[in-house]
Amino acid sequence: MNTAVSGEVTPEQLSVVDRIAADFGGARGALIPMLQQVQAELGYLPPAIMERIAERSGVPAARVFGVASFYSQFRFEPVGRRILRVCQGTACHVQGAVAVMEAICDELGVAEGGTTEDGEFTVEPVACLGCCSLAPVIMIDEDAFGRLTPEQARDIVRNYGTAQDEGGAKA
Ligand code: FES
Repeated sequence: MNTAVSGEVTPEQLSVVDRIAADFGGARGALIPMLQQVQAELGYLPPAIMERIAERSGVPAARVFGVASFYSQFRFEPVGRRILRVCQGTACHVQGAVAVMEAICDELGVAEGGTTEDGEFTVEPVACLGCCSLAPVIMIDEDAFGRLTPEQARDIVRNYGTAQDEGGAKA
């Protein structure tokens, strides 16, 4: 994934947009798939990238920004190396998801939706992760951890690399 500093974009990132727009033939009806593809490759959609998408696709910039803002799947900030999803669905909420989220944010020094300063984690509140019997649940990339206390959640975040090696604490 390419990364840019403080809102600037690199020529490489712009050329990713150019390639994807060319693949889609600049088709106006393909705006959402185009946004998805660009985000899949760059990780997020900063303003300069959306302006480039508008230029290359022939879709007015206001519409590109409007569509991207409407769908929660699109991000406008760079993401961390790992995505840490904290389930906020009903079952998890009842089982203490709020306290789990607070513990994780406190441990990492970020707000919900934020990315740690070292770029390691982006903390995302999400709806049901599909394993409600394990509530409350978090996922780090593809690894799920369930029946967590806030303290266990802190430990997992703190020792994620080690937990992976040992196969410990996963749901
Ligand atoms: S509500 Fe959290 S996994 Fe379903």
